[in-house]
Amino acid sequence: MYNCAVLLAAGEGKRMKSAIPKVLHKVCGKEMVNHVIDVLRRADIDDVNVIVGKGAEKVKESTNSRNVSYSLQEKQLGTGHAVKCAKEFLMDKKGTVAIFTGDAPLITADTVKKLIAFHESNNYKGTMLTSIVDNPYGYGRVIRKDNGEVNKIVEHKDCSEEELNVKEINAGMYCFDIEALLNSIDKLSNNNAQGEYYLTDVIEILKSNGKKIGAISVDFEETMGINSRLQLADVEKIMRKRINNQHMENGVTLIDPENTYIDSEVQIGNDTIIFPGNIIEGKTIIRENCMLYPNSRIKDSVIEKGVTIQSSVILESCVGENTTVGPFAYIRPESVIGKSVRIGDFVEIKKSVIGDNTKVSHLTYIGDAEVGEKCNFGCGTVVVNYDGKVKNKTIIGNNAFIGCNTNLISPVKVNDNSYIAAGSTITEEVPENSLAIARARQVNKEEWVTKRGLKK
Ligand code: UD1
Ligand code: CA
Repeated sequence: MYNCAVLLAAGEGKRMKSAIPKVLHKVCGKEMVNHVIDVLRRADIDDVNVIVGKGAEKVKESTNSRNVSYSLQEKQLGTGHAVKCAKEFLMDKKGTVAIFTGDAPLITADTVKKLIAFHESNNYKGTMLTSIVDNPYGYGRVIRKDNGEVNKIVEHKDCSEEELNVKEINAGMYCFDIEALLNSIDKLSNNNAQGEYYLTDVIEILKSNGKKIGAISVDFEETMGINSRLQLADVEKIMRKRINNQHMENGVTLIDPENTYIDSEVQIGNDTIIFPGNIIEGKTIIRENCMLYPNSRIKDSVIEKGVTIQSSVILESCVGENTTVGPFAYIRPESVIGKSVRIGDFVEIKKSVIGDNTKVSHLTYIGDAEVGEKCNFGCGTVVVNYDGKVKNKTIIGNNAFIGCNTNLISPVKVNDNSYIAAGSTITEEVPENSLAIARARQVNKEEWVTKRGLKK
């Protein structure tokens, strides 16, 4: 059967105390609303309509790449009113609409599929996800008839003494027959404790019209909504655990999974070993047999097989096979580091290409440079890439030996197999196979101290 989804994301999230709309807060590196969109997609729902309101432009911008459509809810008059705003989206459709909320990112594609299948195979007009919890505080309660059928949902603030004791809660996730939903949505009233149009009242309306309502109970974890920063941290912890478990199942060793922070879209090859304190972000790919000693941050980068990294920061760059990075190295965006390279301590690489087998072992800055293979950088080399106006390019050939404390004033070229004497400031092209010395010759003034009367 045809199906589509409406995603409620117009609320402000007052309890977050944030300038950012609630649904754009990130869980394991991805906005919560995007987690839900991706889950819906994995459950084979292509047509997703997002209800936006508070911070609409920001929400649109952040979800834009996911190819969804939008409905605007200008005033937040409740979840039922929010769905009403999707009328145009639903109007000419027949089949099933799934309704989810942008603030509950732990829902899984399996559960979404199960919900739709259960709804359709039983010909229900509405089906909801529920959960049994010890502390149902704040949630809508599921009120069932004596025969077990769902009768209605009562919001916490509207509950009677008796209803407050019900431990089955409404997860806020549903499937409806589109026609039945559209027929009921106009009948909602806001005559309740919060003066809002509750989507939950649709259940009672359908029921009183003799329609069949279904319910599936799921693990509370999947239904957890985020209303505050505390809940954000709770959900993050569960999501992190899921991600880390998946990597361990794939053959990655996490020495201390509770202290390893891997974003949801990161890929890691098997037999890679990750020590605690590593933060691996964005769309990073780490291939097999890598060794990540503690405390690195790696963002949107590709780390090839057999790489060793210690206490370093790598951003938007590629690191070739069997290379070692760190401790305390900083690889900045758009850098491409070759195979079997050594990037040692206190080395910063910015927007540069470093050829295979080159060694940059200590205290060096390389920016806007193309460096060949098998070069050796002495301690304290600086590529002087900025002249106060523009960034200039430096080109270094293969097998170059750059002596300690060299300044390479860009734009400049050092050709293959050449040597630069330590302490040189290179301003002109260095020809192949030659030695460049660019420093004042040493002068020893003998007995200078004695003659000056400075001897102690
Ligand atoms: C809702 C349910 C409650 C359920 C709970 C589960 C209703 C009336 N209540 O309560 O039964 O137990 O979820 O988490 O539906 N939103 C809009 N426009 C609005 C209001 C809300 O788009 O006018 C969006 C919010 O951005 C949010 C979602 O709908 O993503 C849920 O709204 P929220 O105010 O958090 O509902 P709850 O009080 O948690
Ligand atoms: Ca909520």
